[in-house]
Amino acid sequence: MIRIGISAIGCHVPERVVTNDELSKLVDTSDEWIVSHTGISERRIVAEGEAASDLGVHAARKVLQRRGIGPEDIDMIIVATSSPDYPFPATACIVQHQLGAGKAGAFDLSAGCTGFVYALDTAQALVAAGSARRVMVIGSEVLTSVTNWEDRNSCVLFGDGAGAVVIEALDDDTGHQIVHSWLRSDGAGETALLRPVSGSRNPFDPARHTAADMQIQMDGKRVYLFAVDAIVRTIRALCDHQGIAPADLAWIVPHQANLRIIEAAAKRLKLPTERFYTNLDRYANTSAASIPLAIDEMIDRSLLQTGQWVLLVGFGAGLTYGGNLLRW
Ligand code: ACO
Repeated sequence: MIRIGISAIGCHVPERVVTNDELSKLVDTSDEWIVSHTGISERRIVAEGEAASDLGVHAARKVLQRRGIGPEDIDMIIVATSSPDYPFPATACIVQHQLGAGKAGAFDLSAGCTGFVYALDTAQALVAAGSARRVMVIGSEVLTSVTNWEDRNSCVLFGDGAGAVVIEALDDDTGHQIVHSWLRSDGAGETALLRPVSGSRNPFDPARHTAADMQIQMDGKRVYLFAVDAIVRTIRALCDHQGIAPADLAWIVPHQANLRIIEAAAKRLKLPTERFYTNLDRYANTSAASIPLAIDEMIDRSLLQTGQWVLLVGFGAGLTYGGNLLRW
């Protein structure tokens, strides 16, 4: 059986760092509250006019350079995002043009913060089916452009960033194999996390709608409970399928939403919290970009060793959830 997986990774975050103290000048909050309830200390925010495709292109160029290939070597570009440049055309098409990837198809994938996990499985399937030789998967988000900066319940949670990987058939002993993926959705949670206005359900009506109606609305408690359950179910499902125990995982790389969600899931699985890699203290919730941003940092810190079981787990708007089991 051919091994298909990640052959290279590259990430990009905006330069501007925004601390919790700076947010406390916008809304009634404090560094102490944000750190104790979420684990977040700071986040990156784009410069004015910078969009998801811009961050995605930076990450894509980095991954091409690391892989030692050119844009014409990519057959498909998938951008997982909940903050696309436009409702249409797809952000992936803009990335494709900017990169000069003249032989690539391009589409966006909407699965909330689970987008990267969904896109990895999609890319693997395209390669396995022979539809594409190399797929570039990019998680890119500028969620701060659709954040309600007057809502302290949500505005402290998000940050901007992008991460890109190349998915392809791997030579022996190179790359990081995607062994199995498990994807789920609970559409009954439609209203738990959404931007209610500007789609076909509620087209923008200046007589009835305000800017806040087009921004992120979140039922924090509901998302919290869902997220803890989603992490536990995903890890158990992937481990059961592979015939391994959660304790056999060298690392779990969760979507970086909130430290308390991760701690609660670790406790339910009877795993040490340290087994879950986190960097949300510095980047906050970057949605579909959070998992590649974490992996890139783990590589930089030499935390990942060949042969280890590494499990990626995501959860987000939809409500979607799921994971990918990797053999590093
Ligand atoms: N600063 C100060 N006080 C705040 C803030 C803030 N930034 N936000 C909320 N509060 C207040 C609330 O108004 C409330 O005050 P009240 O009791 O006077 O009404 C109080 O804090 C407690 O509110 P809770 O909702 O009980 O706070 P909780 O401890 O549950 O934490 C949080 C809220 C962090 C949002 C939590 O529910 C959570 O983590 N939910 C998951 C949401 C999440 O991670 N979303 C990310 C996007 S979704 C995704 O990535 C899948």
